[in-house]
Amino acid sequence: MRKRTTPYFECALLTLALGWSAVVMAQNWRKLESDGLHDPGSEAVKVLQDPAEAMSQLPPDTAGNKVDWIRALQGGYIKPRSALRGEKEYEVLDGDVLMNIGGSTPAVLFPHKPHTQWLDCKNCHEGLFQSKAGATPITMEKILQGEYCGVCHGAVAFPLTECNRCHSVRQMDAIKRVRGTP
Ligand code: HEC
Ligand code: HEC
Ligand code: HEC
Repeated sequence: MRKRTTPYFECALLTLALGWSAVVMAQNWRKLESDGLHDPGSEAVKVLQDPAEAMSQLPPDTAGNKVDWIRALQGGYIKPRSALRGEKEYEVLDGDVLMNIGGSTPAVLFPHKPHTQWLDCKNCHEGLFQSKAGATPITMEKILQGEYCGVCHGAVAFPLTECNRCHSVRQMDAIKRVRGTP
């Protein structure tokens, strides 16, 4: 008869695996005292919650600060206030804008919905972007210099190295969508 693994052994393996994944997860975030931003000598560092403790509870991402903030919001993991004081009505717009159609990279899809769940129209219109598809002279070079999408992406939203998250639509499909042919 084959010797069966004891539940105890399986349990130990599981603990090891969980423990290891916790270590791997925790490596994604620096501790406050060594993040180069907080004063390691300050009392506050001991009171504040460490990013690893707070963020490991949220849906994971592979880039940026390793949290998928869209899923965190849409899945109800977080519920940010709409205003500093009280509640403010905000408008969510569900509309995509396709850009760079006919270019050498996959076309760029700008989705209004996830942006307007986080941001007010005034954060982008009419300062950063015109409210008319194709009216704003956006280029990748300017984005990389921190303009247009680069005001947030690479700063507070996923980094510019994630090309395919913006350049997400095959040119063929983008052309079809714009022309309205099936
Ligand atoms: C945050 C979104 C975003 C990310 C990330 C991004 N791009 Fe772009 N990219 C754009 C937008 C928007 C345009 C301009 C589209 C238009 O209006 O023609 C653009 C344009 C381009 C163009 C066309 C030439 C130009 O200057 O307009 C190239 C090539 C390009 N991107 C390459 C890349 C590469 C390579 C990466 C990754 C290293 C990347 N992009 C990451 C949004 C992005
Ligand atoms: C994160 C930035 C951002 C936010 C927030 C935002 N927009 Fe936009 N919007 C854009 C960009 C980028 C374009 C495309 C501009 C271009 O191609 O020149 C656009 C285009 C538009 C267009 C033109 C669409 C078309 O097909 O011609 C309208 C209308 C618009 N936005 C309305 C809104 C409204 C209403 C809100 C708030 C509910 C809003 N936007 C919030 C970035 C934003
Ligand atoms: C004012 C800030 C701001 C600007 C400007 C901005 N974004 Fe974003 N964007 C965000 C935030 C915040 C998120 C959500 C957090 C994240 O995914 O990192 C986001 C998420 C996204 C997503 C992921 C959506 C999803 O469902 O996962 C795409 C794609 C995107 N942005 C494209 C663009 C493009 C293209 C531009 C420029 C035309 C742009 N963004 C300009 C703040 C901005």
